Amino acid sequence: MDDMPNQPDDPGPSDIEIDSSDIEVEISESESEAEQYSDGEESIKSTRSFYQNLPHVEENGRRYCDENYFMPNDETELTRLNIVHQIYLILQEGRLTLAPLPSNPRILDIGTGPGDWAIEMSAEYPDATIIASDLGIFDSGLGHVSLPNVDFQLADAQSQWTYHEPFDLIHIRGLSGAFNDWPAIYRQALAHLKSGGYLEVSEIGPAGETLSIEAESETPNLATLTSALRKAGYAAGYPRDLHHLRKEAFVNAGFTEINVIERTFPIGLWPEGIHDKTLGKMALIALLEGVEAHSLRPLTRFAEYTVSDAKELCERVQEEVLSAQRITGRVRIVMGRKPSSYTQRRDDVLARARARIQLVHERQAERDRD
Ligand SMILES: C[S@@+](CC[C@H](N)C(=O)[O-])C[C@H]1O[C@@H](n2cnc3c(N)ncnc32)[C@H](O)[C@@H]1O
Repeated sequence: MDDMPNQPDDPGPSDIEIDSSDIEVEISESESEAEQYSDGEESIKSTRSFYQNLPHVEENGRRYCDENYFMPNDETELTRLNIVHQIYLILQEGRLTLAPLPSNPRILDIGTGPGDWAIEMSAEYPDATIIASDLGIFDSGLGHVSLPNVDFQLADAQSQWTYHEPFDLIHIRGLSGAFNDWPAIYRQALAHLKSGGYLEVSEIGPAGETLSIEAESETPNLATLTSALRKAGYAAGYPRDLHHLRKEAFVNAGFTEINVIERTFPIGLWPEGIHDKTLGKMALIALLEGVEAHSLRPLTRFAEYTVSDAKELCERVQEEVLSAQRITGRVRIVMGRKPSSYTQRRDDVLARARARIQLVHERQAERDRD
């Protein structure tokens, strides 16, 4: 595990504020209160009958939310994402985010999927306002749950974002291959953050070009699949790489204080200790289930595989993974901060000073009691 330290990069007292010319905000007079609360996007809570009839695509035995996004959104994928969420939690020592949040934070989860992260954040930060947005919803995911501080919305993050108020945290997890223009996503994120707010982006392998899996034995089928997926991603115009997780991608977008965290974790039954054994089993299930989910659409649409050839390759990879010697995966989490204004920094310094004074008083009171 190599945790890279914070790398402060203070741009001075200037501030990057939301450029209102970049953001279209339209609320018609007739919109319901729920829709207005939903920051201008389609609120699932306010359109309950609508989500039950959301169109989806059945393809080669899997269900997809639309014609374009490459991962399925069926029950099998839901379960896999639930497991992956737990793996992230274990790797982050139970923390849902690495960002320090103020009171009453506004939080946006882009590509929320089944919504596990957003729902758990709502419990951990009951005073937060959370918008959980996605192209589609999972039938038995948590998007149906009505909670006072989470609003599930339907929105394509590649379109113009229409949120009315800026956020303290924007969270993007597992979206490699979902966007054809990550710099444009980061520009919108920067525009929609409060000054001093955080963007947190994370990815767990396998992810095409930078396949984050290493095995001590030969894995030729895995290598074939990785290479085919890489080519398919480029052919589709939606690269399946981790370039958006390079520090430069955040710097170029205008973020500062960039923090990169990488964790290696076991995949399989080989670890000795109880903790790693559990993690290894969970990661093995996620990987075995993920092979087909990541591959079927890209291989059959952009890599000239027939459905049966694609399924056969997936099965060979699964067998290889099951018999491989010692596989590990890697997770990468990158967090950047929107440069803070002078006022924001002054408030931060004052808040830290108040916290220290409070601590000194508490210690003094303890000494007086003793
Ligand atoms: C692999 S899942 C990750 C889900 C969730 N972030 C998690 O970590 O459990 C990717 C999600 O991104 C959504 N997605 C893909 N393209 C999107 C887009 N252009 N705008 C919004 N969501 C998108 C998909 O519908 C899917 O639910």
